[in-house]
Amino acid sequence: MILQGLTVGFLVVGLAAACCESKDAAAPYCLDEKGAAAQPGAAPAAAAPAGKDCAREAALDVLLTRRSIRKYEQKPVPDAMVQKILEAAMEAPSAGNQQPWRFIVIRDRALLNDIPSVHPYAGMLKEADLAILVVADVTAEKYPGYFPQDCSAATENILLAAHAQGLGSVWLGVFPDEERVRAVGQKLGVPANLMPFSLVAIGWPAEDKGRGGRFDAKRIYLDKWEAPWKPTL
Ligand SMILES: Cc1cc2nc3c(=O)[nH]c(=O)nc-3n(C[C@H](O)[C@H](O)[C@H](O)COP(=O)(O)O)c2cc1C
Repeated sequence: MILQGLTVGFLVVGLAAACCESKDAAAPYCLDEKGAAAQPGAAPAAAAPAGKDCAREAALDVLLTRRSIRKYEQKPVPDAMVQKILEAAMEAPSAGNQQPWRFIVIRDRALLNDIPSVHPYAGMLKEADLAILVVADVTAEKYPGYFPQDCSAATENILLAAHAQGLGSVWLGVFPDEERVRAVGQKLGVPANLMPFSLVAIGWPAEDKGRGGRFDAKRIYLDKWEAPWKPTL
């Protein structure tokens, strides 16, 4: 988990750094060259901090302000943004760098409307512009059994890369629910020996949920279980 967190952090530092090198220092961070996140409906989390701390602060802000977004505006997400999301997904850490993930970008409206018939908590797909199905190629695993961690890291990177670009997204669990794995795989033609792992609904956000604010120092111990941790250095 620590490794996953660090890698996610590096991802957002990278995304944020790209912004801060932009010619327009006043622009919100993490935009693509076309300023896509500045379009109406986009929700960049905050104005860019000034100076050399911009990248780090922006990266942390992406991490701290990501929320599950389930309401979307009806406007298209450019494939350039989808590509960035998938680049981020493939930069996730994986056991022995085995990268067991495969992806299906789902843009077909009939398919998006149909998936909720086999996934009880996926109703937002009817509004989403697209979804990404993360599939584990369990046949290619060098380190058997690690695919859930690898594919979770990729899925989290998808959420963060979407948010960093001003998009909204939500993780829809598929694995390990056997019925969802079977039904989603069947609808999307995934070979039976591969494992549909997670779906991510993506679109331009039509809701702002604010920060989760879930930090809880009581869940953190220092050196040994139940020895309270508090920042002292
Ligand atoms: C493994 C996993 C499965 C999830 N499945 C669903 C789902 O099927 N439908 C849904 O609307 N949200 C789903 N979520 C999103 C969670 O409900 C959400 O992350 C959680 O309530 C915290 O809210 P936040 O993401 O806004 O911080 C899932 C999240 C995870 C990590």
